[in-house]
Amino acid sequence: MSKIIVEGGTRLEGEVQIDGAKNAVLPIVASSLLATEGVSKFYNVPNLSDVKIISELLESLGVKVSYNKDEKTLEVDATGKLKTEADFEFVSKMRASFLVMAPLLAREKSTKVSMPGGCAIGSRPIEQHLKGFELLGAEIIQDAGYVEAKAENGLQGTTIFFDFPSVGATQNVLMASCLSKGTTILENAAQEPEINDMIKFLRKMGAKISGEKTSRLVIEGVEKLVGAEHTIMPDRVEAATYMVAAAATKGNVLVKGARYEDNIALVAKMREMGITVEIVSDNDIRVTNDNDYLKPIDVKTLPHPGFLTDMQSIIMVLTLLAKGVSTVTETVFENRFMHVEELKRMNAKIRIEGRSSIIEGPNTLEGTRVKATDLRAGAALIIAGLIAHGKTTIRNIYHIDRGYVDIESKFNNLGAKIERVEE
Ligand code: UD1
Repeated sequence: MSKIIVEGGTRLEGEVQIDGAKNAVLPIVASSLLATEGVSKFYNVPNLSDVKIISELLESLGVKVSYNKDEKTLEVDATGKLKTEADFEFVSKMRASFLVMAPLLAREKSTKVSMPGGCAIGSRPIEQHLKGFELLGAEIIQDAGYVEAKAENGLQGTTIFFDFPSVGATQNVLMASCLSKGTTILENAAQEPEINDMIKFLRKMGAKISGEKTSRLVIEGVEKLVGAEHTIMPDRVEAATYMVAAAATKGNVLVKGARYEDNIALVAKMREMGITVEIVSDNDIRVTNDNDYLKPIDVKTLPHPGFLTDMQSIIMVLTLLAKGVSTVTETVFENRFMHVEELKRMNAKIRIEGRSSIIEGPNTLEGTRVKATDLRAGAALIIAGLIAHGKTTIRNIYHIDRGYVDIESKFNNLGAKIERVEE
């Protein structure tokens, strides 16, 4: 087991390059299973453990996958006959594995995928995915931890209303409807930028989709889809991590690959706190902060374009530095405050009331031993370590490696003192 040791008290300065988005690449690679002809090639693919898992899952289905680490490219050849069962081994390691369900159902007419179950941040049900498949004409059987879906005569387009704009359900049902007969309309669809990136790729494959960036997607089914090339969008949560770290350390950092369009809520909240956020170009944001104290804020996580739940723990570290009371309310996941107990171990004054965390600032953090409770909570603890006195030791860092490429060298290039120690 490895751990990360952060020495606090450094100021971040310089430039950092953001990698491709984990939450875009996983669903997009799953969607490349829809191609019965042609090879797909992806650029800007981050070297992450989750990308390795989705690649292994695809290989287990009979797909040829090759990743070039230096070029950050991934090729997927799904043109052969595919196996249709996705095993517990993969889905239990990574929930996004459930996204192979739609392409397998749509092209092979039947599939059996292990149910994802809960995780550290909540129960995470899948009924919106299954409702969508059923309305498209699939028969769904849930038994012994597996979901089986069958549509011997193919899927038929229809109108589907999501009770909640679920990112995964929108992606799964969108993929299935691309090969359904006739027109499918998805109402109350999620509008996250990663969904728009998937739509761009599906269109290159030959899919007919309109309504992108809105809650109403209209899909005209096509007979077949072919492999295509696509550059994965930059990771907006990785960008947020360095933007917040720059502000927290009273630094000056150019975040290359941070796009204002994908980070509107975050930029607004940082500016509300008194931080200078400069939109340098469509792809670059500079963050500078020389305030002794920040202003308190109220943050509420919501589906896009609201404040992204994945950035909740990260912005919470910034509120620790504000003079006054801030609130952070989580409405997307039921149990996403596990990091609060860890931050409290570092002397943070936070209390949880229902779905809200109430943060009394300003706080002086002390380095101690903490553990990453999930991926983004792990990143939040690194930022907390940067502003704490002394050393912070973070365990369970396998969570962090799921979503951050070279995190310690990227931080160290900005002047941080972070070390990974193998135990
Ligand atoms: C994706 C992201 C995750 C992010 C989340 C919300 C990936 C790989 N993961 O997860 O990082 O935090 O979007 O932006 O892209 N729900 C139901 N029923 C369903 C589906 C979802 O009740 O059928 C609930 C979930 O339990 C959760 C909420 O809806 O409370 C949001 O889930 P969803 O938008 O589906 O998130 P994911 O696609 O799992």
